[in-house]
This record gives sequence, structure tokens and C-alpha cells, in this order.
Amino acid sequence: MAVVTNLDPKRRKSTPLDELTSLVSQDLDSVNELILANMHSSVEMIPQLAGYIIAAGGKRLRPVLTLAAAQLCGYRGENHKMLAAVVEFIHTATLLHDDVVDESDLRRGLASANAVFGNKASVLVGDFLFSRAFELMVGVGSLDVLRILSKASAVIAEGEVLQLQTSNDTETSEQAYLEVIKAKTAELFAAACRVGAVVAARPQAEEMALYDYGMNLGIAFQLVDDVLDYSAKQAKLGKTVGDDFREGKITLPIVLAFRRGNDEERAFWRRTMEELDQQDGDLERAQQLMVRHNALKDTVERARHYGAIARDALGLFPDSAVKRALLDVIDFVIDRDY
Ligand code: IPE
Ligand code: IPE
Ligand code: MG
Ligand code: MG
Repeated sequence: MAVVTNLDPKRRKSTPLDELTSLVSQDLDSVNELILANMHSSVEMIPQLAGYIIAAGGKRLRPVLTLAAAQLCGYRGENHKMLAAVVEFIHTATLLHDDVVDESDLRRGLASANAVFGNKASVLVGDFLFSRAFELMVGVGSLDVLRILSKASAVIAEGEVLQLQTSNDTETSEQAYLEVIKAKTAELFAAACRVGAVVAARPQAEEMALYDYGMNLGIAFQLVDDVLDYSAKQAKLGKTVGDDFREGKITLPIVLAFRRGNDEERAFWRRTMEELDQQDGDLERAQQLMVRHNALKDTVERARHYGAIARDALGLFPDSAVKRALLDVIDFVIDRDY
């Protein structure tokens, strides 16, 4: 059962993520089984709603990173699979909550869970998935893993709240934006990679190298996600293009276009992003301004910078197929269009 993406694989060229996924494919099959087995509940709406978003696919990038990190560390046990399932549970819970907060109605190419089942059900099933993730971690029995993934969950929530505080403020700094994306996105990537070294009982230096790899990969991932919100083909992305604009979410493309713009352009950004007074053609105008000021291109350049840091973080590990695939995934994250 290789539920990796809802896109027809025959229509897609193989990517470096496919390469990494294939190196852990047996384990990933078990992870998908663990996910399905552990989302069960006698309260019918829980497996119904959780099953809906899980069956919609997704890249399974974070659990693949956990499995690959464990493999890189030479782990021979079984616990990494449950940890990978836990990481995907946490990710899925954040998506359920995020789509409610962002009022998004498309996810993984389908109507979002909140659009189908309502906000209340999405929030509550998200809570269930978070809590179940912690139950499963207790079952694995590593206090270190529990410490890392519980911290990551708290940091993600902090990131989402911090973003709420900075939303609609066109004068948000690049630094403040980075703080948000490190928390809401990169911390889970970092934790997902780090626990691979923790289960394998590797020295602190390797644990932290994987943490740094995940953190910088995660920053690059979100930078590109924020570019795709303006530039992707919606059918390929599986999410609504322009969602961030309509919501007034201040991402790096906006920060750069605003700072590089003239007075008239800044008035446009204030009207659309701060006052949320938007008319037909405004999204197109925003996209044009971003092109004029290289805001999308330079956001991808920033992502390359963090990608380079991620690459160097793995320098300690000897060459292997899985190390090469982890390095290639950095390029996938930067060059992806979904
Ligand atoms: C979406 O993550 C949330 C962000 C951090 C941007 P993914 O793009 O990894 O989502 P799926 O799991 O593949 O759907
Ligand atoms: C992603 O936030 C981070 C979390 C889900 C915690 P976004 O709101 O930027 O991601 P998408 O675009 O909805 O996937
Ligand atoms: Mg969102
Ligand atoms: Mg987004």
C-alpha cells in the first residue's frame, strides 16, 4: 500500500522524494498500516474523518524522513515505524486545525475535512489525533522521544498563534516571518529527523546534525510553500492558489514586495492585506508586483540558502544510498511544484 500522493504516478516524472521513499518503502507500508490501525475509535466520526484526510494521500514526507534518519543511523529495531506513524498523526492533526484557522476548503486535491464535516468535527478529530499520537509514544517508551515530539507539538501551536498575531501586518519583518515558519513547520521536520537518531541511540552530535538538517529543510519547505501559494497550478498543488492573499497572511513574497514597492504599491498592499478590501483582479496584481520585484524568485533563493545549510548538516555521516537520497530531497523540496 504505497499511499504517497493522490496524483496518478504514471503522469508524474519520478522525483528525488520517490527515490528516498523507495529506500524505506517496506517500512513505509508498515507505517501506513499502523496509521490505519491506530486511528480507530468506537466513535464512528473519528475514523470516518481521519480516514478521509489520510486516504486523500499527501507526500508522507515527514514519516519518510523519520524512517530514513533511522536507516542513516544504522537502526535495526522496530520502533522507528511507530514513531513515523506518530509524526504523521501530529502532521495530520495540524492540517485539520490549520484548515479551520485558514478557512481553506481544498486539501490534497479534495474538499478539506472542515468543508466536508464542519469546523467543529475537524478541530475535535485533530485533538483526537494529537492525543492518540501521545498514547502511541508512551507505548514506545522513550522519554527522550516523548520530550522531543511533545516540545515540537507545543512549538507548532506557538507558531500558529504567533502567525495569528502578525497576520495582516504589512510591516512584518523577514526575521519575524522566519520565527513563525521555524515554529509552525520546521520544528516538526527537525523533530521527525532527530528521533531517527534517538531510537538508534546515536551520539548527541548525530542527533543534533539530523535536527539541523530537518530544521533547515523545513524552513526551505515552507518558503517554497509560500511561493507556491502564488505561483502553483492549483490542480497539481491540491490546495487553493491565492489562499494566503485572500486571508491577508504575510509571507516572505509579500514582505519583499512591500519593502521593494513604491508608495502607490504599498497602498495596494495595505488595502488588500490589512483592510482585506479585495476586488477582482487584485490577486493578479499582487502576482505581477511579486514578479516585478523578484519577490518569488528571491524567496526561492532564500530557500536555497537554507537548503545549503541542511546539506552541510549531514556532512558528519559517511556516504550511503540513504544519505545521498536525503541530500537529493533538499533539491526536491526547493524545485517541487506540489
Ligand atoms: C503542508 O505540508 C503543510 C505545510 C507545512 C506547508 P505538506 O505539503 O507536506 O502536506 P501533505 O502531507 O503532502 O499533504
Ligand atoms: C502550514 O501552514 C503549517 C501547519 C499546518 C502547522 P500553512 O497554512 O502555510 O500551510 P498550507 O498552505 O495550509 O498547507
Ligand atoms: Mg493553511
Ligand atoms: Mg500556505
